[in-house]
Amino acid sequence: MQRSCVTTTKEPNWGSDPSDPSARLPGPATLGRATLPGGRHAPGILRLADAEAVGEQVAEWLLASRLADPSLPLGLATGRTMEPVYGALARQFAQRSAAERQRVRLQWCSFNLDEYVGLSSRDPRSFAATMAAHLVTPLQLAAESVLLPRGDGEDPAAEARRYASLLESKGGLGLQVLGIGANGHVGFNEPPCGPEVVCRCVALTASTRAANAFAFGGDPAQVPAQAISLGLSEILKARRILLVATGGAKTAVLRRAFEEPPAADLPASWLQFHPDVTVVADGAALGR
Ligand code: GLP
Repeated sequence: MQRSCVTTTKEPNWGSDPSDPSARLPGPATLGRATLPGGRHAPGILRLADAEAVGEQVAEWLLASRLADPSLPLGLATGRTMEPVYGALARQFAQRSAAERQRVRLQWCSFNLDEYVGLSSRDPRSFAATMAAHLVTPLQLAAESVLLPRGDGEDPAAEARRYASLLESKGGLGLQVLGIGANGHVGFNEPPCGPEVVCRCVALTASTRAANAFAFGGDPAQVPAQAISLGLSEILKARRILLVATGGAKTAVLRRAFEEPPAADLPASWLQFHPDVTVVADGAALGR
């Protein structure tokens, strides 16, 4: 397929006024893996034409990571941003040789970020059901190689601890794919949230329940009030992070996450403390 890559890591435009120097990331010389004052790092930025191109690129990296370096689990996300990623992954997987498909199946191990409290994996609105439909079935993966917290356990706090120790027993996350919520959440780490929080049961904000109501007949009241989510602590220990964002609705939050000092009211901003973050975004999310 034709890659519609426009430019990489040069002069990012977050939709800000380019004449305002305070509204810009450091220039090309310091972008990439540059270290900023206070141990912060500027992200690499891959700017692609549209959500489809973003999906193809991220899927390529996911597949490559399972074939070339399967030693650590993948970290996976749900959300509308990820739909083109899993669509592209299924297509790219189908084009691989039978031997490669089998290697991917044997070497697959992924941990999703989160799950709604109260929903079983059989509930079509659960993230487990989403992953089954968009990943397990098309790639014919072993269901037990695609891990999520159990949403329907009797003790969600204990389930969060079990999930965190299972991840730790596998060595932590290798490549972590993240989306970003309009309020700056990653996973379901809702603001305010520090970088030290671990996998736990979280209360969802009204804005997040409204944003996810599309999967619940459009009614925010039907969206579970709690979720189990990996914390910033597990996320920041991933070896490499891809933050995926598409569409103009993400421009402002992306800009704040990487241009302003890290702060609890914007959980994604803690990613500035990770040395290997790449923002993979379309022109709309970066501001045309
Ligand atoms: C969700 C998820 C996140 C996701 C984010 C953005 O609620 N818990 O993992 O990245 O919100 O969602 P979307 O891609 O639909 O904008």
